[in-house]
Amino acid sequence: MVSLALAALLGALLGSIPFGLILTRAAGLGDIRTIGSGNIGATNVLRTGRKDLAAATLVLDAGKGAAAVLLAGVLWNPAAAAAAGVGAVLGHLFTPWLGFQGGKGVATGLGTLLALAFPAGLGACAVWLATAAVTRISSASALAAFLLAPALAWGFGGTTPALALLVISALVIWRHQGNIRRLLDGTEPRIGRRSSGSD
Ligand code: G3P
Repeated sequence: MVSLALAALLGALLGSIPFGLILTRAAGLGDIRTIGSGNIGATNVLRTGRKDLAAATLVLDAGKGAAAVLLAGVLWNPAAAAAAGVGAVLGHLFTPWLGFQGGKGVATGLGTLLALAFPAGLGACAVWLATAAVTRISSASALAAFLLAPALAWGFGGTTPALALLVISALVIWRHQGNIRRLLDGTEPRIGRRSSGSD
């Protein structure tokens, strides 16, 4: 039990690093929270027009989720690895350094799944890419990927990864409430649409 709590804490600390905000600030683009959707994730960083920063945000956000899982797996056991993954997503969503207002957990959740059950992570990425190819909408792609992620985690990783992904998917989908409203009323922007300010 102590190992689960410690692993979740370790994951939360790693997950709380707001790479999108750090990278865009370092590049002199100002506060990403005042641009586009206001989210600190790769999709919104792309709205600045900086594909390199968006790619770096994607890799680093996924990397912190994967690192949390792998580190806890080495330090403790598979259950602790799953707890660390949930912690990483919680740390990203409720970043203490940003007044507990963080991102939506898509890249961090995918990184977590890749580390917990690699084929399941690849499957979820494939669902994201296929949905994006059809819709050109990042949030719709994320919703499709995380709706299927628990089943993929169960199929390729078993019960413990599946339980972790049930929690992570619920958090990610809950965090997309605004996106779901925009999808339903047809106003959700397409991937890569540049932004000159908050919208
Ligand atoms: O990765 C987050 C994505 O699903 C939605 O981002 O900025 O369009 O709200 P955004």
